[in-house]
Amino acid sequence: MDTVVWVNDRLVGTDEGTLSALDHGITVGDGAFETCTVVGGSVFALTRHLRRLRRSLQGLGLDLTVGDEARCIKGVHTVADAVGAIDGRLRITVTSGVGPLGSGRQPGGRYTVVVAAQASEMAPEGSAVRSPWVRNERSAVVGLKTTSYAENVVALADAVARGGDEALLGNTRGELCEGTGSNVFVEVGGELLTPPLDSGCLAGITRALLLEWGGQNGLPVREAVLPFTVLDAVTAGDAHLLVTSSGRNVQPVTWLDGATIAAGPLSLAARALFDRLHRQHVDP
Ligand SMILES: Cc1ncc(COP(=O)(O)O)c(C=O)c1O
Repeated sequence: MDTVVWVNDRLVGTDEGTLSALDHGITVGDGAFETCTVVGGSVFALTRHLRRLRRSLQGLGLDLTVGDEARCIKGVHTVADAVGAIDGRLRITVTSGVGPLGSGRQPGGRYTVVVAAQASEMAPEGSAVRSPWVRNERSAVVGLKTTSYAENVVALADAVARGGDEALLGNTRGELCEGTGSNVFVEVGGELLTPPLDSGCLAGITRALLLEWGGQNGLPVREAVLPFTVLDAVTAGDAHLLVTSSGRNVQPVTWLDGATIAAGPLSLAARALFDRLHRQHVDP
């Protein structure tokens, strides 16, 4: 099955010209997006994704009106119907629409809405490298899922060139923060610990659900401030690692910076718990 794409109210071909060359999302990355998991054709956690999309746009100074949100939902349903009963991912992108060539905005424009879905598979395990770059926890767009993802593109390409499939970043204070497209948990001392949001990480939906579902199901999982050097304990075999995202669910990391590492027992339990519950709750 090919990728199904919907732009501003209609299904379009993947290589059909549909966006203005002056769309501010293209010229300066002035937009926000969400990537949702699709489970058997159902879009998982759509309410949470739409809430975060609204928050990201608000952080950019853009208001997602009721009408804009209705357009997003219409696009989601149209694409989900067209793509069928797949396991995969569905992306919603909203930009500020046509704008000037520079960073300033043209007021009163119509937002661009793009929804696209495709089948994809999730690997049960991940491999990561420590990134030489950092997340700026004091950035103007910290915690927003904006379409300005070039930093993540560069860091991920570096990770792939070094044999990994995710790069792990610290922040400017030297604390562990997140991956280029995932949150991170360290299994240490009989607990699963994840950096708090003030580390500069995205408020991941998979992260939040693992904290909630873990807490409700006896899994010792919580937020904690972790130094980036905690990854030394992982390579030394004294701690374990997992990453979470809508594209990965809960994924134990079994390779870090060239060294094979063991998946921890709590990490494996977290993966099993999430695998089970995300199939039982479509919109938790
Ligand atoms: C930078 C970043 N951190 C974390 C995540 C994980 O968030 P979620 O679990 O909502 O997919 C993502 C998702 O793509 C991301 O881009």
